[in-house]
Amino acid sequence: MNQKIIEAAVDAVRARVSCAEPLAALILGSGWEAAAPSGGPLARLAYRDIPGLGAPEVAGHTGELTVQNVAGRGVLVFHGRRHFYEGAGWEPVAIPVAVARALGAPTLLITNSAGSLRGDWPAGTLMAVRDHLNAMGNNPLIGRHSAFWGPRFPDMARVYDDALRRVLTAAAEETGVSLTEGVYAGVTGPAYETPAEVASLRMAGADVVGMSTVPEAILGHAAGLRVAAVSCVTNVAGGAEPASHDAVLRSARAAMDGAGCLVQAWLRRLEGEKK
Ligand code: HPA
Repeated sequence: MNQKIIEAAVDAVRARVSCAEPLAALILGSGWEAAAPSGGPLARLAYRDIPGLGAPEVAGHTGELTVQNVAGRGVLVFHGRRHFYEGAGWEPVAIPVAVARALGAPTLLITNSAGSLRGDWPAGTLMAVRDHLNAMGNNPLIGRHSAFWGPRFPDMARVYDDALRRVLTAAAEETGVSLTEGVYAGVTGPAYETPAEVASLRMAGADVVGMSTVPEAILGHAAGLRVAAVSCVTNVAGGAEPASHDAVLRSARAAMDGAGCLVQAWLRRLEGEKK
């Protein structure tokens, strides 16, 4: 990863967006737009105006950073993400995490759409990520070491913060949203999985599979942020229905009433925790 590109992006955001002591940063994945905290944003900046980030190429990713007011605290909301499979390297994937860290957000919530690797988790299942399997054959920390991202060899035994996951569980109970817990396998895509790949990921211990989240979680955890992630199951990986991005978006959007309630309740509880 080229740290100069990261620094230029952070400087551009700092020049245009101010947010004193953000409560958290939130990355909205495919179809998650409706889970954003509502209300007119305190600030907004298009990804295309952030050097090194640029507009997402994929439908379902708005491509805007906003600052939302949640109980009097700013929340940095990244509406959509860039993916490694877009071929622009790790920098566009890393920039939202770098901005979150540089602006002082202590906590990062990553959301995604994912394919189920289990027969008992249909589309619409929401899963708090307990751990991940990096099946990308790559790592965003490869390259010249920068202290911005923590130590050269960061520990990854506890990527997803237990306390934050408990807050997610409590938020789910409060709102009556059903939330399970499991392991997310991150692959590069953009091709969906073959049945043999599905079988091998399942054997390796994963519950769902998707094309994001793992790099952001690695970077966020390495850089000292508290990390949580939630997957929305949108399809059965390698299932009878041919996988398509349109179907993924449709399924995710159908689950957003519950997912939105969960995210809002989680943020409110996070704010309450701080008092
Ligand atoms: N595989 C990989 N990524 C995905 C899937 C899938 O089945 N569904 C949504 N994102």
